[in-house]
Amino acid sequence: MRSAARVIYLDWNATTPPHPEVLAAMQAAAEVAWANPASVHGPGRRARAFIEQAREAVARLVGLDARDVTLTSGGTEANNLALSHAFGDEAAGAGAAGAPSAGAGAAGAPSWGRLHGALVVSRIEHPSVTRAAEGLARRGVEVAWVDPEPSGRVAPEALAAALDRAASVAPVRLVSLQAVNHETGVIQPVAEAAAIAHARGARLHVDAVQAVGRLPPEAWAGADLVSVAAHKIRGPKAIGALAVRPGVRLRPVLLGGAQERGLRPGTQDPLAAAGFAVAARRALDAPARYAALAPLRDRLEAALIEAGRAAGDAPLPNGEGMRAPHITNLSWPGWRGDELCAALDLEGVAVSSGSACSAGTAEPSPVLTAMLGPERAASAVRFSIGEETTEADVVEAVRRVARVLARLRSLPAGS
Ligand SMILES: Cc1ncc(COP(=O)(O)O)c(C=O)c1O
Repeated sequence: MRSAARVIYLDWNATTPPHPEVLAAMQAAAEVAWANPASVHGPGRRARAFIEQAREAVARLVGLDARDVTLTSGGTEANNLALSHAFGDEAAGAGAAGAPSAGAGAAGAPSWGRLHGALVVSRIEHPSVTRAAEGLARRGVEVAWVDPEPSGRVAPEALAAALDRAASVAPVRLVSLQAVNHETGVIQPVAEAAAIAHARGARLHVDAVQAVGRLPPEAWAGADLVSVAAHKIRGPKAIGALAVRPGVRLRPVLLGGAQERGLRPGTQDPLAAAGFAVAARRALDAPARYAALAPLRDRLEAALIEAGRAAGDAPLPNGEGMRAPHITNLSWPGWRGDELCAALDLEGVAVSSGSACSAGTAEPSPVLTAMLGPERAASAVRFSIGEETTEADVVEAVRRVARVLARLRSLPAGS
């Protein structure tokens, strides 16, 4: 029997391994920060200090003020909070049927009535944006969807046209565009999107979950609201943040106590915050480390294409133009991406096919479908490297990919 192979982790976009300094900070915090951070006594204040340290570190990382950073349960909640903030004034103000009486003071109460206004959003956003947009559409928001180019980039002209189209139906309150696509790594034209949105009186939300700690702050320049997730920058899971420009009033999506100024009620986790603070500080100079990864990613991509060609058919790269330095996404003609992922997992190579592998569903990636159609999406595999990936990892991963391709090719059809 072959001994279990060392696992080569090439799925840094799905999540990153927590950094040892992050783990040490969380362990140290566990000793002293078990109290409820909302409590006014000494132990509560000690726990609260970790919350505020995370807020400060995130503010510095994204270039906004700590007073305008709301800690959330991750990128998903930050995105939901960002999208919902722009809709509902009329419904709440008019006391629409079903509107809750409990409010969030200066933050404004959530509205459960019919919503007004328009939202412009790209089709290649993470589901935490697209699903939230669909929810808003069901409640009356006019949603203008923007298709990507086949390259994976959302063209500023297409964004402007969608904005103008939507504006003829309802006032456009918000444009949502990610900084870096989570599946292809394609860098989106955020600065142009900000100029387009602002010129038409709309705000820009940038899901920077895949950009922060990997690209410099220009990647989200001009954003009015910025979403961040700790686990993508070597921090803990289930904590993230939404940072906004001064004057942007959020609207809570959860109702409850006064934590996070009522914008995100629920007892905060000081341990996660301790880890987030360290991860966010480390992330300040991470873009230089990531930039240095580009040649390694390029060698990985070239070697994978060669391995596919040797096995019969060269895979096709998904995503062109400016890309984050650590991702390659390839479609393998004649293969199914989820099957390749499963076979590679057995060989000790951890990768994913869009979001399908991690979700355990067979649904092809909506991102790649929007870019290049369902066939190309169904055969895609994403490889994402990180600051601990070595040349030896890449060489060994490609060797295992070649072995998997040879083995699958030798199986009788239908097996
Ligand atoms: C671009 C993007 N936005 C949002 C999220 C969601 O973040 P979280 O997993 O913290 O909810 C992810 C996670 O994969 C992502 O890649």
